[in-house]
Amino acid sequence: MTMFRKTGIAALAALSLSAGGAFAAGGEGHIEDIAFSFEGPFGKFDQVQLQRGLKVYSQVCSACHGMQYVPLRTLADEGGPHLPGDQMRAYAQQFEVFDPEIDDFRTAKPTDHFPGSQLENAPDLSLMAKKRAGFHGPYGTGISQLFNGMGGPEYIYSLMIGYHEPPECAPEDFPGSYNAAFTAGGYPEECKDEHGHPTVPGSWIAMAQPLWGDDVEYDDGTEATLEQEAEDVAAFLMWTAEPKMMARKDAGLTGVIFLTVLSVLLYLTNKRIWAPVKHRKA
Ligand code: HEC
Repeated sequence: MTMFRKTGIAALAALSLSAGGAFAAGGEGHIEDIAFSFEGPFGKFDQVQLQRGLKVYSQVCSACHGMQYVPLRTLADEGGPHLPGDQMRAYAQQFEVFDPEIDDFRTAKPTDHFPGSQLENAPDLSLMAKKRAGFHGPYGTGISQLFNGMGGPEYIYSLMIGYHEPPECAPEDFPGSYNAAFTAGGYPEECKDEHGHPTVPGSWIAMAQPLWGDDVEYDDGTEATLEQEAEDVAAFLMWTAEPKMMARKDAGLTGVIFLTVLSVLLYLTNKRIWAPVKHRKA
């Protein structure tokens, strides 16, 4: 009993640890926890948010980044941005794609994909929200990951709002922009301790700050603050990385219900089968 109680307390402690939102330590990225609509077993993409995110992507990010794995027609999909068919077709028509069949460029069709990156060192963003993790394990019981995912969209959000004045330790001419969420970049020697460990979170990134607030004008009247734009584009990139997330969750839920019903039936059947044996008088 005491043993059980101890484990219980340990589990609770682990749970409360994993629930912590924003972390920052030397060398680690500073990640904000966001309650996205698509988190949790019943979470769904917010169609209007995805449309706002598409706008941010189109008007800001696509100047450098591409999304070559995302078919343009999926912008009309239910569960995604769900653009009306004519809007989706009009969106597609703004791109020129190279068609090897005619050996020339032509206007893009809904069946074509988004163009690739325009800038050579800007990575393709189609799957970025699943390539990066904001929450790094092991975190207690993993309950946080189960309910909040791996933090890919949180990472993108934190990256967007993570541009700050460089810390004082850094020489002024250090190349790149200081970002508190980005850990894969360069790092001045001056910002390391005697063991070579970074003394401030984040590192220097080759992407200049892309969002400042008021970079787009939202059609639904939402105010385009930096945080709002960051959240919207992060949600949109989660959708591009996992467009079938809602279908997967529905299938998972159906599976759980099915297994529960099956267990109850098996239990009752089992009882019935063995009842005569159990109640036999010795
Ligand atoms: C002016 C060009 C430019 C624009 C505009 C731009 N980026 Fe970038 N982005 C880059 C470059 C270059 C890198 C590579 C940075 C590096 O590795 O240091 C990058 C890297 C990234 C990364 C990967 C970071 C990592 O962990 O490796 C993400 C995510 C990203 N950009 C998102 C965005 C989003 C979202 C927008 C629009 C709001 C945007 N970018 C706009 C140039 C740009």
